[in-house]
Amino acid sequence: MSEQPSSGSRPLLPGQIASWLRLVCFAAAALIVTAYAYLAVRKSPNDEAARRLAQKDLRAENTKKGLALIAEPGRNADGTYRISVKDAAALIAADNKVVAKIQAAAAPAPAAAPAAAGAFVKASDEQMKRGLAVYSRTCIACHQPTGMGLPPVFPPIANAPIAVGNPELPIKFILQGLMGPITVNGMTYNSMMPPVAGVSDGDIADVLTYVRQSFGNKANPVSVEQVKAVRAATAGRTAMWTTAELGLK
Ligand code: HEC
Repeated sequence: MSEQPSSGSRPLLPGQIASWLRLVCFAAAALIVTAYAYLAVRKSPNDEAARRLAQKDLRAENTKKGLALIAEPGRNADGTYRISVKDAAALIAADNKVVAKIQAAAAPAPAAAPAAAGAFVKASDEQMKRGLAVYSRTCIACHQPTGMGLPPVFPPIANAPIAVGNPELPIKFILQGLMGPITVNGMTYNSMMPPVAGVSDGDIADVLTYVRQSFGNKANPVSVEQVKAVRAATAGRTAMWTTAELGLK
């Protein structure tokens, strides 16, 4: 039954050679698969160099992006930042009531109640709305709608200790700017945050309160009085703060 049909042509290769060839092909395929798997696994010891290279690329790319975001055409006459369509879309995706919130935030409201020692005080909805409005015109270009920044150029303020720590520090560098090396969430930054233009004491209290109670952060509200005191104490200072000066590493 397994005989070749008598009229048919002979098989292309004699049976034995064909089976040898099959074996060789199989061995070659197995070798390729093993080598590929080995290379894939072996990549990890080289990670450090690769990571640095990737970070360098990311830095270059995000520097370009960052500079474009904060360039003159992206600014309003009072020095605040215009939100790009992409950022606005991201804000709306994160919170579909954001437009109503920003509109509502235009109305002024009383300052936050003083915090009881130790206890967490939730900011009023009104203050959060005003804070979001200030964030959207003064911080969003660099720290992004998500609060995640643009590493490794602009640091995140989500899950970042300085944002939820002593408010005196961010008040200082919102007023006069910040430069120098600083490590946030394990990544080292050495860029510059310019003084934030066009913000009143109330705006700073609101935006810091917003930041301290958004993006997963949980810290007490900042009062207008706190901002007023820092502004008075640093009046006349024009130089940017350095991270070393503020004890930040
Ligand atoms: C032009 C870009 C830019 C704008 C606008 C900006 N920042 Fe920053 N911010 C930076 C950079 C860059 C640093 C790090 C500075 C350094 O490397 O020394 C920083 C650092 C910070 C830090 C401390 C580090 C951290 O990640 O916790 C906080 C908090 C902060 N900014 C909050 C704000 C708030 C609030 C606003 C708006 C009122 C704002 N920033 C506006 C660029 C900016």
